Parts: sequence; C-alpha cells; structure tokens
Amino acid sequence: MPIGLICAIPQELTHLSTLLLDPVPTRAAHTEFITGTLDGHDVVLAGSGMGKVNSALVSTVLADRFGCGAIVFSGVAGGLDPALAVGDVVIADRVIQHDAGLLEDDGLQTYQPGHVPFINPSDQLGYRVDQDLLARVVDRLADFTLAPLSGAAGGGHRPAAIRFGTVLSGDQYLHCDLTRERLHGEFGGLAVEMEGGAVAQVAESFGVPWLVIRALSDLAGHDSRFDFLAFVDEVAASSVAILRRLLPVLSPFAQRRPAG
Ligand code: ADE
Repeated sequence: MPIGLICAIPQELTHLSTLLLDPVPTRAAHTEFITGTLDGHDVVLAGSGMGKVNSALVSTVLADRFGCGAIVFSGVAGGLDPALAVGDVVIADRVIQHDAGLLEDDGLQTYQPGHVPFINPSDQLGYRVDQDLLARVVDRLADFTLAPLSGAAGGGHRPAAIRFGTVLSGDQYLHCDLTRERLHGEFGGLAVEMEGGAVAQVAESFGVPWLVIRALSDLAGHDSRFDFLAFVDEVAASSVAILRRLLPVLSPFAQRRPAG
C-alpha cells in the first residue's frame, strides 16, 4: 500500500513534488493527487490547502480512494515551547484540536472533536501516534542531524533540534503572544499548526497509522507573520529531510493494511 503524503501550502509541497519519480497526477475534490515513488517507496502526494477541513478531505481521499497504508503530514508550524527556535523540528506523539470543545462564559474548554461533555462524554483528548511506529521513528532519528539553518534564517547558533511531543491544531494562524503562552501552558504543546489534528482523526477512523512532522517557521507570537515569510521555504526542507529518513520505517507499517 502506498504512503500518503500531505502538505498544506505550495512552499511545503514544492520540496517533495520535485523529488517524485514516475509522477502520475489525478484530480479529485479540487485537489491534485500525484502517485509516484520517493526514494523507491510508493507514495501519493497531495497539497491540501490550509486548515482542518481541507486536510481531513485529502486524508479521506488518500485512505479511501488510494488505499494508502500510512499518512504523513510534512510541513511547517509555529513554535510554542520557549526552548525551541525557528528551524527546530517537532514530530507529534499526540495531536490535539485545540479549537474544538465547549464555549462557556470564560472561554473555550477544549474537548475531543465530535463530543460534548454532557451529551456524549469522552475520556480521549487528542490522537496518539501508534506507539510501535513512534518507537521506531525515535530510534531511526537517534543519530540523525539536520543540516544547520543558514545564517539568513537565524541559524548557526546551535544545530536544529528534533523534539517529540504534543502538536496543537486549529483553524487559526496564531500571531499572538498571550495565546501562545496559554496553549503551551494548558497542553504542554510544542508547536501549533492548522491541519495535523484532522489528519490524525481521519487516519484513526480508517485504522491507518499517521505521523505529523513540523519544522518551525516562526514562534507564533507577534513576529510570526514576518518570520513565517522569511523562513518557510528553508525550514520546510528540514521536514522533508526527516520524512525521507523515516520512509524505510513507515513503509512496513503501510504494507500492513490489507488491499481492497
Ligand atoms: N503554521 C506555521 N506557523 C503557524 C502559526 N503561527 N500558526 C498556525 N499555523 C502555523
């Protein structure tokens, strides 16, 4: 079974589309899906556009129509943990849709999508990566170092870090210091983005393992829009470098899905 690869925006997609061999494009749901091989692995690549509905739609098509046996999101995110810098990479061990839940007088109580505490309560908050896959991913990256970011992108002070932890997804681009602090404090989130939680929700529904790889283009505070524009192209390449390193680990998981 092929591995489904999703990016949200052209700056993320371009790094991968130029690497695909034997590309065959198909259009569905206003989206181009490209089947091909990446480093010898069968993949289907799609640019979803931004946001959870777009990434859910594309994940559904990858799982249902293309029969993908694993789905990976590769792209950029805003950093939430003050210990992280632009260029560092976060791999989700859990994703939470931080903007889903119960709206009360004093704000939003984040809750599992599709549930309301007093209607259909759930003990689950967010979606966890398959633990076996995660262990193999950690192992595969143990001795992997990313090329340092260029000086122009603020690199050079230390090598880019690779961290595993909670990634938050919501349908807002975050450009706010107060919310950044709140999200880090409330969930211990390492990074914030706009698609991963929906990819995980759909993949889990199909019983397909998933992974979210995010290189930090900005720190989601008051400078985030300027940093994003300055760094997105360069850091998106780091996410792709990690994805390529992980393809041999992902492939056996994708083959586990029965055909048909
Ligand atoms: N993706 C990259 N930067 C982001 C931010 N600050 N908020 C949401 N998604 C992002």
